[in-house]
Parts: sequence; structure tokens; C-alpha cells
Amino acid sequence: MILVQEVKFPIKRKNLKTLKDIMLYLNRSQDEKACAKYELKPGVGMAAPQIDVSLRMLGILIDENGKRYEYAIINPVVLAESVEMTYLPGGEGCLSVPGKNGIVLRHNKIKFKATFYDYKNDTLEEKILLFTGYLAIVFQHEFDHLNGILFTDKVTNDTKDIKPVEF
Ligand code: NI
Repeated sequence: MILVQEVKFPIKRKNLKTLKDIMLYLNRSQDEKACAKYELKPGVGMAAPQIDVSLRMLGILIDENGKRYEYAIINPVVLAESVEMTYLPGGEGCLSVPGKNGIVLRHNKIKFKATFYDYKNDTLEEKILLFTGYLAIVFQHEFDHLNGILFTDKVTNDTKDIKPVEF
């Protein structure tokens, strides 16, 4: 079992730098030109343990319906989950498990508390957020990384009575 540590306050500059680097990586990975130049794999999320930093931090960057959702998350704690489940119809993939893909059931809604890092303004804020649908799925995938769980541990064929996520 991997022990991924909570980020201690006051947060060290080098840890904020790591989280910023994750966000910059996600940004770059979604830029087609940069992707080709640096041979990056496009990602919508990344957790610190994926780059060998054993701290409870993760980044999410999603462009959905013309809106950008960007979150740099520190010490997330799940407060509530919907009973209703959902899944990505095309299956999940992971930068840490190249070439694999599979259906995973996720809660359709998830409420969590965390410290959010605004890396552009270098500010921190503690908030409670409720994520739904695709955003909730990506969060749960990344949150699992903090507990040493990969999507491949949860792949299923049984999606009976469960609605795929709507975009
Ligand atoms: Ni992953």
C-alpha cells in the first residue's frame, strides 16, 4: 500500500511548484502543437503520485461545452457521494497505464472539501465543491491515485441500469 501524505501547512514553495507544473503539463498536453512537439499524451487530470511526488495533490483541466474547468486541488476530503452511478461510455484511460482503457462505475455527484491553488495569482482558498458528471468522474479517478488505486482495479462490464455520463 502506497502512503500518500497530506500536504502540510504552511505549504512549501516546492510543493506549490509541483502542483503548478501539473497544471502546466495538462494545459500543454491539450495543445495539439505542443503535444506533437513534446510527444505528450493529452490528459484531463493528474495526481502528484503519478510523477513520484507522494503528496495529496491533483490537477484537473477540462474543456466542456466551451467552458474551461481548471482545478489545482490540495488535500481533498470527500464529504458526500450520490447513490446514482455513471460511467464514461468510451471507458477511462490513464497516463500511468498507457494503452489501456476500460469502463469504471463512478458516483454521478461528489462533494468534497479541499484547499484550491490559484497558480496564476499564487493564492490558496479552502472551499467545498460539488462536482457532477464528467467532472465528478475525473475527480474520482484522480482521487483514487492518492490512495494507490488505478482505474484498472475497478474495470467492469456490468453497466446494467446505469446511465452513461451526459455531456
Ligand atoms: Ni490516472
